[in-house]
Amino acid sequence: MNKPPANARNLAHYWMPFTANRQFKATPRMLTAARGMFYDSDDGRSILDGTAGLWCVNAGHGRPEIAHAVENQLNTLGYAPCFQMGHPAAFDFAEQLAGIAPGGPDAGLDRIFFTNSGSEAVDTALKIALAYQRAIGQGTRTRLIGRERGYHGVGFGGISVGGLVNNRRVFPSLPGTDHLRHTHWLERNAFTRGLPRYGAELADDLTRLVALHGAETIAAVIIEPVAASTGVLLPPHGYLERLRAICDEHGILLIFDEVVTGFGRLGSPFAVDYFGVKPDIVTTAKGLTNGMIPMGAVFASRQIHEAIVVGPETEIEFYHGYTYSGHPAACAAGLATLSIYKEEGLLTRVTQLADLWQNTLHEFQSRPGVIDVRTIGLMAGIELDPWQKPGQRAYDVLVECFKRGLLVRVTGDTIALSPPLIAEPSHIERMASILGEVLDTHQ
Ligand SMILES: Cc1ncc(COP(=O)(O)O)c(C=O)c1O
Repeated sequence: MNKPPANARNLAHYWMPFTANRQFKATPRMLTAARGMFYDSDDGRSILDGTAGLWCVNAGHGRPEIAHAVENQLNTLGYAPCFQMGHPAAFDFAEQLAGIAPGGPDAGLDRIFFTNSGSEAVDTALKIALAYQRAIGQGTRTRLIGRERGYHGVGFGGISVGGLVNNRRVFPSLPGTDHLRHTHWLERNAFTRGLPRYGAELADDLTRLVALHGAETIAAVIIEPVAASTGVLLPPHGYLERLRAICDEHGILLIFDEVVTGFGRLGSPFAVDYFGVKPDIVTTAKGLTNGMIPMGAVFASRQIHEAIVVGPETEIEFYHGYTYSGHPAACAAGLATLSIYKEEGLLTRVTQLADLWQNTLHEFQSRPGVIDVRTIGLMAGIELDPWQKPGQRAYDVLVECFKRGLLVRVTGDTIALSPPLIAEPSHIERMASILGEVLDTHQ
């Protein structure tokens, strides 16, 4: 607590990601510690975490079990090469993850490839899809389809299938990518409680792309079952089922990017379990290690794994991997995180909170300038009328909420909320009360 205040620190050298660097450095917001549902700021205030960090601290902050597991692991084996060598924690963690794999044991999504982030998980999943199509004699299938308003991280694969213009306009995309239309249909679905009623037919956009490009050129479609970073966009009733059916009809793999929805955010271990729609590949990160050590993981189906892991046994089957794939410290953090999730029932706890969450946040419908409220599980998007200045009002709300002790996230004109899954009703009420005051004063 005796650290110098932020303005005494040299802020020049750290080039901050996804941040208005000069604006931030002129008026910094510094977080110095965290425990449970709260951060401490450098000016000695307690900030309620309305966003689980960046959708990742599902079990709450400062979990000593995870810290101790990492410490023990680092004191035992701090690093081991993962190419042609192994270490126990990686196999143990993969086995534990297989036990809760998306869709349960029958879905067979239990062959697990470790990465260090969600972006790497996405690029890995796209490569697995391409390798699979080639392995089964469908080598012409090289096209990757994403969706408008999708976010799949910042690798070249991820931005190519992603649908956010600011993340794409400066950088060239991979050749042979295309996009489905997004599913955000404000005019018809605003303020719907639960899944949007209208828009299942938007999945037919894939049929249009098949007609345009030829199914034999398309390897995979990747979507977020619930689009998080682009404004908490829920899939319309029947949309995911329809997309699955069209993929099946045309031999196209379906990838769910569950970097946000994985590990209990919707009240089930994965969105796959929540919606009952089974993709062929699932990407995860964030809640995988409670955000305490960077890590991502790709769950591939046995069928895909078996198609790729063939040929002479002396040959590497899949030319892909990272120096830190399955890093011992990350695996230790992941194992400890999974134990917490299981002991505290966090992978399903949100089912007890979802009604309160929905009812509390839908009360914002009556606030001036709120044009939609969307909730699912313990996620919410409150979309504001930009009033001629896109992004400005939402950013002002973020700043004012922080001043009043609440961390929210802003994506475009939407305030996104996704607190840790340990949240109590009192935390939800406090979040709503601070946000309500701020919205009232920022009209
Ligand atoms: C759906 C989704 N995919 C991928 C990513 C990228 O993850 P990372 O920032 O760990 O690379 C994110 C990050 O927010 C995400 O929300």
